[in-house]
Order: sequence, then structure tokens, then C-alpha cells
Amino acid sequence: GGDFNQKIDYVFKVVLIGDSAVGKSQLLARFARNEFTLESKATIGVEFQTKTLIIDQKTVKAQIWDTAGQERYRAVTSAYYRGAVGAMLVYDMSKRQSFDHMARWLEELRGHADKNIVIMLIGNKCDLGTLRAVPTEDAQEFAERENLYFMETSALEATNVESAFMTILTEIY
Ligand code: GTP
Ligand code: MG
Repeated sequence: GGDFNQKIDYVFKVVLIGDSAVGKSQLLARFARNEFTLESKATIGVEFQTKTLIIDQKTVKAQIWDTAGQERYRAVTSAYYRGAVGAMLVYDMSKRQSFDHMARWLEELRGHADKNIVIMLIGNKCDLGTLRAVPTEDAQEFAERENLYFMETSALEATNVESAFMTILTEIY
């Protein structure tokens, strides 16, 4: 076959969760299309995008699911988590509350997802250095206690976005 019927060895479903406006949709846009929108609208329901990558000479199709952080726009939870092998728990490092809610999101995730799911804590918007409300050490401590990977990212500046997704996908693999 030609370039367009490339054989897929694995499909990995990864879900994004966290409060509204932390940057979940922009992290996905940056990873999947290398795009960023400042005037991004709140997600309603569920969206997903795919990106095909080569990991260890295998073709891996990453299927990244993105849902609304706002309760009233959220889709049925169990369907969202079904089959997920990875999760990104995203907070905004300039909004303390979004970090304080991580425990709740983690509880929901652990209540619905497979017990072997690979989870990464993401402190997004690290470009807003002077507005930092969550010290790196606080997040590191939480991540260690809960057995999560951890990275600070910026969807705006494309800092660590590729790296965060690649780390989670490689760990799944
Ligand atoms: P919901 O869909 O409501 O759950 O929100 P969300 O988590 O998907 O947030 P979204 O990606 O829509 O981003 C919310 C706002 O934050 C938008 O104005 C984005 O442009 C902005 N934003 C996202 N990522 C970054 C970032 O890394 N840095 C900065 N400075 N702003 C960002
Ligand atoms: Mg969104």
C-alpha cells in the first residue's frame, strides 16, 4: 500500500480532565495540529482528535478525548473513561483552585477508569510565570503521593506539550 493506508499497530485512548479554562482543549490543539487559540470557547460535550506517531518502530494512533470542565456541559462520565489507557489531569498553575480540585478529578477518574491507567498531572500555563499560584513542589508532592507523572506545560508557548504526550504514550506502550 501507499502512504495513506499505513498499518496501525496500536490505538491508545487518552482522556483530558480538569476544571474549565485550564487549557485542556488548547493542549490538544497544540499537540494534534500545532495550533493555539487565545479566544478559545468552552468545550460542550466531548470532542476528540487523533495523531499517529511512531514509537519503538510501531505505528501508534493516539486518540485524545477532551470534555467540558463545566459540569453542565459534561457528557456521560463512564462512556468518556471507557477504554482509556492514559489520562491527563490538568490544572492552571495561575489558579490555585484548579489545583485544589485535582483530588476530586482523580477520584472520579479512579472510580471509572481501568486500574492500570497511566496518569499524568499537568500544570498548564507555565508561561504566566509571575502569576504562579501553585509552587512546583506542591504539585510534585501530590504527584508522588498519588503515583502520577508530573509536568508543567504551556500550550501557548508549546513548552513540554509534545513531551508530556510522548511520555504518557510511551509509558502506555
Ligand atoms: P473547558 O472546555 O471549559 O473545560 O476549558 P479548557 O480546559 O478546554 O480550556 P481552553 O483550552 O479552552 O483554554 C481556556 C483559556 O486559557 C483560553 O483563553 C486559552 O487561550 C487559554 N490558555 C490555554 N492554554 C494556555 C497557556 O498555556 N497559556 C496561557 N497564557 N493561556 C492558555
Ligand atoms: Mg475545552
